[in-house]
Amino acid sequence: MDPALNRSLVFIGFMGAGKTTAARHAAAILGVNCSDSDEIIEQQTGLTPAQHFESHGEPSFRAAEEAVVLGQLAEPPHLISLGGGALGSAAVIEALSDHTTVLLDVGLDAAWDRIQGSDRPLGRDRAAFEDLYREREAGYRELGDANLSSSDRHVVEAALPSLIALAHGTAGSLRLLWAATSDGGYPVWIGNDALSQAPWPLDESSRRFVITDSNVADLYAGDVPQASGLVEIPAGEQHKTLETAETVWEALVEQQATRADHLVAVGGGVVGDLAGFCAASFQRGIPVVQVPTTLVAQVDSAFGGKTGVDLPQAKNYVGAYHQPAAVIVDPTKLATLPPDEMAAGYAEVVKTALIGGGLLWQRVSSGEAIDEQIIRECARIKIAVVAEDERDGGPRQKLNLGHTVGHAIEAATEYRVLRHGEAISLGLLAALRISDTVELRAEVLALLAAAGLPTSLPDLDVDRVLAAIALDKKRLSGEVPFVCCSEPGEVHYGVPVEPQVVRAAVEELVS
Ligand SMILES: NC(=O)c1ccc[n+]([C@@H]2O[C@H](COP(=O)([O-])OP(=O)(O)OC[C@H]3O[C@@H](n4cnc5c(N)ncnc54)[C@H](O)[C@@H]3O)[C@@H](O)[C@H]2O)c1
Repeated sequence: MDPALNRSLVFIGFMGAGKTTAARHAAAILGVNCSDSDEIIEQQTGLTPAQHFESHGEPSFRAAEEAVVLGQLAEPPHLISLGGGALGSAAVIEALSDHTTVLLDVGLDAAWDRIQGSDRPLGRDRAAFEDLYREREAGYRELGDANLSSSDRHVVEAALPSLIALAHGTAGSLRLLWAATSDGGYPVWIGNDALSQAPWPLDESSRRFVITDSNVADLYAGDVPQASGLVEIPAGEQHKTLETAETVWEALVEQQATRADHLVAVGGGVVGDLAGFCAASFQRGIPVVQVPTTLVAQVDSAFGGKTGVDLPQAKNYVGAYHQPAAVIVDPTKLATLPPDEMAAGYAEVVKTALIGGGLLWQRVSSGEAIDEQIIRECARIKIAVVAEDERDGGPRQKLNLGHTVGHAIEAATEYRVLRHGEAISLGLLAALRISDTVELRAEVLALLAAAGLPTSLPDLDVDRVLAAIALDKKRLSGEVPFVCCSEPGEVHYGVPVEPQVVRAAVEELVS
């Protein structure tokens, strides 16, 4: 890692995000200077920000802060930590465009935990803290060239080479989401032409073997720079099987892939899940880079490390957790996606918006078209949920909203009748019925219908669906816990539901 910076790395974020600690830690690793706007103001005035607020008022503090921050940004490139309110200044925003901004996006609760009870004015009032957080969060996210959901030292350290790539300009115009995991995490690069711009996460001694499907091969497999081999599988969910996995392992042996090499999954969720599983098991595990080309994969399946194949009896029944080495997302690749596949992905967007609530829900529920910002926000929410619970022991189960019934419908129809996202469309409606949120269900039904997604399935065999639900892999001693949604942003997992309530929700899908 070359520590010489072309531009300053500027840590921004809400108060309590851990900017000062993160910037100092990064600066210590790089051996470069670090400056902190709050600290400089304190040195200059002899007052802490809280004292300054109280004795001279906020406008006086903001004027001092603007002058200090503009000074920091004019210095030779170094590590900078900015006070939470510094981005209220238009001059600061303009000056930031010459630098690389790193948003520490640790979430409302984590920030509040650090700030409550402190001498800061907002540390005494959770409601006011939350209002200000909500007011600022969208602006922060737009401004961050990089987004880190954790300020933990090992996460900052793992992300540093990717942050340096941004500061060196070697990642072009891409944005970075850092997916924090127990062993540090991986970069998610998002933007047009991402495959040619993203810094490759593994060095050249590890050869790249592309796994793709018969529809995507001609379109995008050739975009992977310096590929050493290619394995093509037949397209479609019915090929997400152990049999197909075996053909991939055998092709890799034939092409002389070794455990020093890695796979690159170019395609939708089927390719991503299957290639991830092959990577998790080939020679006991080699890295995989995910290059999602469907909306389902770009907003959901490429992140989080769940890999696997289906069995005839149930979906995703054999698999492994295998976090990617990187995810490279180019939204322009969706231009060739057939409309039905785009609609299928829309079901996952609606699911994510229900989980995340807030601005994403506002945009999605008002019927806005999918754009890069919506894709990025869905990816951010998924990554943040997984970071809390990598192995699905708790909060990650929220991501299964609509999936218990959705997966059961796929299994009951032998993966032949509906696309995954179409089954999730029905599953979401069942989940909202089970959640007893009548108005929200009607709103979601209208959104799904407008996107051309199924909202009922007249030939559905209800008993088969219920049998598949009983087989659900999340079954705990006979009862299938459900994920329920009381309102957008309020999703609860592990909710026990009476069998007759589940039956009624599935029966409603037939009419
Ligand atoms: N691992 C996870 O966390 C997770 C999450 C959600 C879904 N999934 C899995 O994802 C799978 C569904 O993924 P999917 O909807 O992407 O299906 P898919 O991979 O079958 O892709 C859909 C179709 O689009 C084609 N295609 C892909 N990209 C294209 C492009 N850019 N242009 C033209 N055609 C293109 C494919 O060949 C295929 O025919 C399911 O198996 C589901 O279980 C996994």
